[in-house]
Amino acid sequence: MARSSKSRKQAGLARRYPCYLANVAVQPNADLEVLDKFTGKVATRTAFVGPGMVRKAIVAAHKARGPMAEFTPDRRRDVLEHCVRRFRERFEELALALCIEAGKPIRDARGEVERLIDTFRIAAAEATRIEGETLELQLSERTRGYRGLVRRVPIGVCSFITPFNFPLNLVAHKVAPAIAAGCPFVLKPAAKTPVGALIIGEILAETDLPRGAFSILACSNEDAAALTEDERIALLSFTGGLVGWELKARAGRKKVTLELGGNAACIVDADPGAPLDHVVDRLVFGAYYQSGQSCISVQHILVHRDLYEKLRKKLRARVGALVMGDPRDEKTFIGPVIDEAAAKRIESWVEAARKAGAKRLAGGERKGNMLPATLMEKVPRESDLYRQEVFGPVACLQPFDDFESALDTVNASEFGLQAGVFTGNLAHAMRAWDRLEVGGVIVGDVPSFRVDNMPYGGVKQSGLGREGVKYAIEDMTEPRLLVIRDQPA
Ligand code: SIN
Repeated sequence: MARSSKSRKQAGLARRYPCYLANVAVQPNADLEVLDKFTGKVATRTAFVGPGMVRKAIVAAHKARGPMAEFTPDRRRDVLEHCVRRFRERFEELALALCIEAGKPIRDARGEVERLIDTFRIAAAEATRIEGETLELQLSERTRGYRGLVRRVPIGVCSFITPFNFPLNLVAHKVAPAIAAGCPFVLKPAAKTPVGALIIGEILAETDLPRGAFSILACSNEDAAALTEDERIALLSFTGGLVGWELKARAGRKKVTLELGGNAACIVDADPGAPLDHVVDRLVFGAYYQSGQSCISVQHILVHRDLYEKLRKKLRARVGALVMGDPRDEKTFIGPVIDEAAAKRIESWVEAARKAGAKRLAGGERKGNMLPATLMEKVPRESDLYRQEVFGPVACLQPFDDFESALDTVNASEFGLQAGVFTGNLAHAMRAWDRLEVGGVIVGDVPSFRVDNMPYGGVKQSGLGREGVKYAIEDMTEPRLLVIRDQPA
């Protein structure tokens, strides 16, 4: 194990990570153990706080509303730029932390650190362009001599709850817009992967953000109840599972944004508009990167019947050859899923679908939380594997005969986050954009494509609202009107 202890040292995982209460590191006695998701051993510990500290964080954030609103846009930008510099300096440490705490293959982990940097850079730029408008109020005799101006002001305290699958970048998508918008916040990272968020906290604590501007607290879901229920919080932003809808029901008057996943489809048209090998490359990436643990991972591949046999053969060969193993290894493509319970659930869905007539084209035995990349066909539409979000390394292949019916099949899902369409037919691309009930249509690539300034979010069960820095800032600010009446001379 010499290599893994060296890795831990490089990642700085050998120490206990504090939480951050009102910008300051705190070390309460209780510990949260963070497992190395590949070895299953304890990789590090973090502080673990109780409900009292969550309440203190909310009180401090509430007091920080004024100071944060007055913390000028240039200073918000400077804070975000400081983070960008520090993330660059700590790049490999951040990547290795992800690799260990999330089991994310190191190449994907580095990609996520790049995106963390992008997200903060975008937010730094947005911080100084939150703009308002002038309003023409002179619409009738009654309103002559009135002028209107609208600017956007911070909404107030935000609470954030983030998932395990992108421990850095999905935290960034809440934290960076909040700083740009001037909102104090309290964040609860996923208990299985808190380290990334706590390193972000460590870097934020180096800045001159007003006291109380941020708290990052590892705690249990029960102890975080106030993040949903406390009326001093103006906005709750949650990324995770369908439990988000229950949080919304408990959230009272606050604004709620939810990103709750999907079971994304990718359509491959009769003329895919690209060489088939390229399409296969992208499908393999989209379905299996970070073991399918992404809300926009490709779960359904719909292929025009003219191409079906050819694509099926190529895909099967590529999926069967994906290297599974230690996520620290540069050659690994498939690492562990987050825990054994998740792996067993996915396995049971695959087995149930097989019993109901589905065929496994590639895949194999589960070992603990390691699940080989799995390719299925003839998956019954009523099965969990077809209908639910798998969130694992499984894709389901099916043929279609005409493009409209493929759009209908995609729209039959209860989810609607993003969809991909490979087509060389411009009319089909436009038709997909018109008809697909999703937050985003990606033509010429898989639904798994995301740039961090894109509006990102879904319809139906997939959620409410959009992230993507500028769009999150819109939610975190509200219009404030000024009306001025000309006075008689
Ligand atoms: C997610 O899983 O929702 C995030 C996907 C991404 O940011 O690429």
